[in-house]
Amino acid sequence: MKTVRFGIIGLGLMGRELASAVARWCHLADINVRPVITAICDKAPPPGRIDWFKENFPTIKLVAADYRELIASPEVDAVYCAVPHNLHAELYPAIIQAGKHLLGEKPFGIDLAANNAILAAVKANPRLVVRSSSEFPFFPAVQRMFRMVEEESFGRIFEVNSGFLHSSDLDPNKPINWKRLVKINGEYGAMGDLGMHACHFPFRMGWFPKNVRAILSKIVAQRPDGKGGMAPCETWDNATLLCESADPKSGAPFPLTIKTQRIAPGQKDTWHIEIFGTKASARFSTKNPKCLELLEYKGGEQAWQHLDMSYESAFKTITGDIFEFGFSDAILQMMASFFHEAANGKPIKPCAGCVTPEETAWSHRLFTAALRSQKNASTEAV
Ligand SMILES: NC(=O)c1ccc[n+]([C@@H]2O[C@H](COP(=O)([O-])OP(=O)(O)OC[C@H]3O[C@@H](n4cnc5c(N)ncnc54)[C@H](O)[C@@H]3O)[C@@H](O)[C@H]2O)c1
Repeated sequence: MKTVRFGIIGLGLMGRELASAVARWCHLADINVRPVITAICDKAPPPGRIDWFKENFPTIKLVAADYRELIASPEVDAVYCAVPHNLHAELYPAIIQAGKHLLGEKPFGIDLAANNAILAAVKANPRLVVRSSSEFPFFPAVQRMFRMVEEESFGRIFEVNSGFLHSSDLDPNKPINWKRLVKINGEYGAMGDLGMHACHFPFRMGWFPKNVRAILSKIVAQRPDGKGGMAPCETWDNATLLCESADPKSGAPFPLTIKTQRIAPGQKDTWHIEIFGTKASARFSTKNPKCLELLEYKGGEQAWQHLDMSYESAFKTITGDIFEFGFSDAILQMMASFFHEAANGKPIKPCAGCVTPEETAWSHRLFTAALRSQKNASTEAV
């Protein structure tokens, strides 16, 4: 078993979630690598957070307030960095230049220029594994859909719809947070926050957008600022991107719709994808996390089947295959993928690999074109 000494920068929502996956590493079977958390860093950690980490991870040797201290540590081989978007362009290149493997968070830079700066550091350090977090494609139904594309089971693909939907911002009394502020979240709004999740599957299959017509909406104009007043919401709440994509093998074009919404009534962290083809169609939503909807067409009646997926994960686990798969399982699988690649140089299979820096660059080109499309009410080349 190889050991990778692991540092976490940003101990908020996601920093703690990924740490918990490390604590559950014994859940994985047949993996030849194990992360050990040796260092943590947060500039302004939530109350009690450092104690939570120290109590649960006695392997921690370094607690830093300044990320430069963590990345200078010889006790760290790889870093997970989960900080707000405005900091990606400073921290990610610094982590890479310090010689650490990096699992970063999306959107991998607040805008295209920031993403370019991160990509330049990646290119200058080809030995390192640098990947972006995106966990939903590790759900068993989605792994099955990847396999169906690879085996060309869909026939001619004529439409793909992918999206990531939230609803909590429907509440106008929800206090403002950094995701509503351009200087911290970025001008992309919901696209920067949610978009990479919706792009992961299509991009991994080579379904890149040639052009885009975007309709972006700002729905709630202001929110309580937490100090008794109101603050303006600056970022796009919802984005619908209609793209022209094509099958990389046949060149046949098809519409690809990518929806990212902070205000999708009733939706709580709902990630979905649907693929329509001449021989088969399939759809999946985390709303019904073990169900794969499938329509196989050989002529005659057309009927959707609802298949209860078993626990068919990319990385084997001790869980019996009669049980259900959930969000924290997807996080564990994503972590397994990152550390497997850091230790072995390549993913176990293409559909079980984390988002690459090049895929983040595609997402930035798409979101930048989408901003132009909204501004000019035009279809823009990506
Ligand atoms: N993969 C997912 O499903 C998912 C879900 C939510 C958020 N995210 C992404 O994770 C990242 C962080 O989001 P979050 O929701 O965890 O945010 P958060 O606000 O809960 O946590 C961010 C933490 O970073 C710390 N921080 C800020 N500046 C810092 C600095 N200079 N050095 C060290 N620490 C610093 C903050 O004090 C805070 O504790 C974002 O890129 C976001 O888009 C991913």
